[in-house]
Amino acid sequence: MFMPKFGRVCGSCMTLLIQREPTFLGRCCYLGNQGCRNFSTSQRRPYIMKAWQLREYGSNKNFRFTDNAPMPPIMYPNQIIVQVCAASVNPLDVMMREGYGAAMLNRQRDPTGVLPFMDPNVNELPLVLGRDCSGIVMETGLNVKEYKPGEEVWVAVNPYKMGTHAEFVVVTNSEISHKPRSLTHVQAASIPYSGLTAWASLVTQGGLNEKTAKGKRVLILGGSGGVGTFAVQLLKAWGAHVTTTCSRDAIPMLTSLGADDIVNYQAQDVREHLKRLNKFDLILDGVGGEAEKYLFSTDYLKPWAGAKYVTLRTPLLKNADSLGFTDGLLKSGMSLAGNAVKGLASGIHYRWGFFTPDGMALDKIAALVDQGKIRPVIDRVFTFDQLPAAYDKVEQGHARGKTVISVAEKRTQLDDSSSFGIIHV
Ligand SMILES: NC(=O)c1ccc[n+]([C@@H]2O[C@H](COP(=O)([O-])OP(=O)(O)OC[C@H]3O[C@@H](n4cnc5c(N)ncnc54)[C@H](OP(=O)(O)O)[C@@H]3O)[C@@H](O)[C@H]2O)c1
Repeated sequence: MFMPKFGRVCGSCMTLLIQREPTFLGRCCYLGNQGCRNFSTSQRRPYIMKAWQLREYGSNKNFRFTDNAPMPPIMYPNQIIVQVCAASVNPLDVMMREGYGAAMLNRQRDPTGVLPFMDPNVNELPLVLGRDCSGIVMETGLNVKEYKPGEEVWVAVNPYKMGTHAEFVVVTNSEISHKPRSLTHVQAASIPYSGLTAWASLVTQGGLNEKTAKGKRVLILGGSGGVGTFAVQLLKAWGAHVTTTCSRDAIPMLTSLGADDIVNYQAQDVREHLKRLNKFDLILDGVGGEAEKYLFSTDYLKPWAGAKYVTLRTPLLKNADSLGFTDGLLKSGMSLAGNAVKGLASGIHYRWGFFTPDGMALDKIAALVDQGKIRPVIDRVFTFDQLPAAYDKVEQGHARGKTVISVAEKRTQLDDSSSFGIIHV
């Protein structure tokens, strides 16, 4: 006798389904019932998939590789199932593995706080991490017109949803874009998460774009990592003057990406060195700590000229974890407002930058990539079965670009990394 796990309504045909892992009981488009139309499928799809599932928060030991994880279903008409070919591993994945952000993300998963999570694409545990990927469209919901099964895409997934460290992922049509034609899947997977974080910080918060960035002086703190290597290239493509900080061994890589002024933070007094330079229109802080205390000042930013300090090291999720959702939100709001007011008094602006899934921004980034203005910068590629080693690599820090896992490509292909056009340092 089977025990139904929970019932749900199919997002495409509104039929009530009862889940019995790994499949559903019920007659609807999801099961390929003839009575349901306008549901686009590429092929008879499987009901189980390979995935790295996090059973509970903690270390790599809590990952379990499974080849019978339930396939994520389409729950809403604007959703798309993507077959993952390659995905990146980011500091956020390592932090989420340890439970970082759970309070805030659970609130997004279940805003009422009283209902059990009804959508398997937004369950808390077991959790599939991974915030971006390059892959192939497998199935599309009723309202998806721009993407067809079989098309190559790249995506960035909101952190409260099930991620890309699996064979398949469900995304909405606002989280997806056609992959740049000039890149392999491994190369393409290195860009969406970091690229969209840089985009949200420089464009959305910083107000820069292809028209306004020309001639602007921008400082990137931490130029050698995933976000930094992308931000430097985006700004150079738009004609900005870029100063960046990094360790000595990363200098050749950042020079090759076009950085104008590079400060070795291990050998030089960054504070004194930067003081001698002309003031900046924007500082993007991917490092945090002491730097903010002295750099968010008119000693470094142009006063009364719209100059902005955008930090990626925000306390929002950490505060929610330690104080609870409401108190955490209040404390974070007060901290943000305090800095914003302090800056306004001297004519400079303070902002927080967040990774933001944005398919339209990915379209623009894809165009820049295909024009040769932005290159993927890959530190190391791991196979899917080596995922815990990839997490170890990211956790050790000192990134020189991105860590990528190849979900569909084989180890023999990866060994010849030159075939991916990877920039090695
Ligand atoms: N708010 C958000 O939504 C969001 C999104 C993405 C990332 N982030 C945060 O933004 C930061 C950058 O992200 P990422 O993905 O680029 O990380 P990453 O790939 O790990 O890169 C960090 C880079 O910073 C360098 N670094 C460390 N300390 C430095 C210092 N004092 N001065 C200059 N460079 C330094 C590291 O190399 P060396 O140590 O060898 O110098 C490394 O190359 C991380 O802290 C991440 O958590 C926030």
